[in-house]
Amino acid sequence: MYSSKRNMESNTTEVSVHSGMLKEVLEGLGKTQKTLPSKFFYDKRGSELFEQICELDEYYPTRTELSIMKNNIGDIAGQLGSGIQLIELGSGSSLKTRLLLDHLPNLHSYVPVDISNDFLSSAAEQLQSEYPNLEINPVSADYTKPFDLPDTNEGIRRIVYYPGSTIGNFTKDEAGDFIALISELIGKNGGLLIGFDLIKDRETLIAAYDDEKGITAQFNKNILTRINRELDANFNPDAFDHKAIFNEEKSRIEMHLVSQKDQTVYMMGSKITIAEGETIHTENSHKYSPESFREITQPHFRTEKTWTDENELFAVQFLTKKHSVLKD
Ligand code: AVJ
Repeated sequence: MYSSKRNMESNTTEVSVHSGMLKEVLEGLGKTQKTLPSKFFYDKRGSELFEQICELDEYYPTRTELSIMKNNIGDIAGQLGSGIQLIELGSGSSLKTRLLLDHLPNLHSYVPVDISNDFLSSAAEQLQSEYPNLEINPVSADYTKPFDLPDTNEGIRRIVYYPGSTIGNFTKDEAGDFIALISELIGKNGGLLIGFDLIKDRETLIAAYDDEKGITAQFNKNILTRINRELDANFNPDAFDHKAIFNEEKSRIEMHLVSQKDQTVYMMGSKITIAEGETIHTENSHKYSPESFREITQPHFRTEKTWTDENELFAVQFLTKKHSVLKD
């Protein structure tokens, strides 16, 4: 159900995404605290490593979120209602998606949105074969920036699905801006089904981001391998150590790559110097309480319902758009 016209548009989008990557990478590495945008973790290898992370004993979020969805799917589907346009930000191939699709029989359409056109096409094709009657309209876009949705008839309710605690990658300010962007995107009567990770003891949190097998370390270093390949750089990933810390004040796990020595790296004509012990901050993973999450969402959304697991590790929440900032 996706036309060749759409594919051509998508390819055009990918070129601009790519040149945007160089700009963002150089910008991050030019800061006093060097940073790299965590969205660049997910090339083919990075996505494979992330899938391995999801299977780790220490990494509770994925399996906990899935169990919350399974245990409450009737209730969740009821909240979303029938005849909606379901817009999933990122992925589009997960078990959680299938669970929703199985329980939302009168879907108007399913719109997976992903930065990777290749991934999007293969995921959409696979899904189409499993759900032959489902209207699937993939959109290739960096959803952290404004983008257009396929047209629907007036009155079709748009609901964004944003699972996986991906919201945790944003700082609180960025998360607020992002919530505003979603609110714009879905328009009147829109809704948001979102998963976020809850605050818990430090040991559990650190272990989830610094596993015994070192898969998360490989995942972290792979961002350098990707930059080498795609932006013609010469990082030595083995000259960095993986580090995960819990920043209590900001309520977030931070992943860093710690330079083992003074080193110089070249990237498309730019020279980057890194001192021994200096870190590249590669990811934030914010942890919320239902109250702290509400601070971010309440300017635009009303919290309808929150589901959690028995150990209160993770939360899935359904929110609806407020009609006006004056009406609470
Ligand atoms: C996909 C952003 C939810 O923050 O837990 C897993 C990514 N990083 N292990 C997370 C991740 C290291 C993950 N999110």
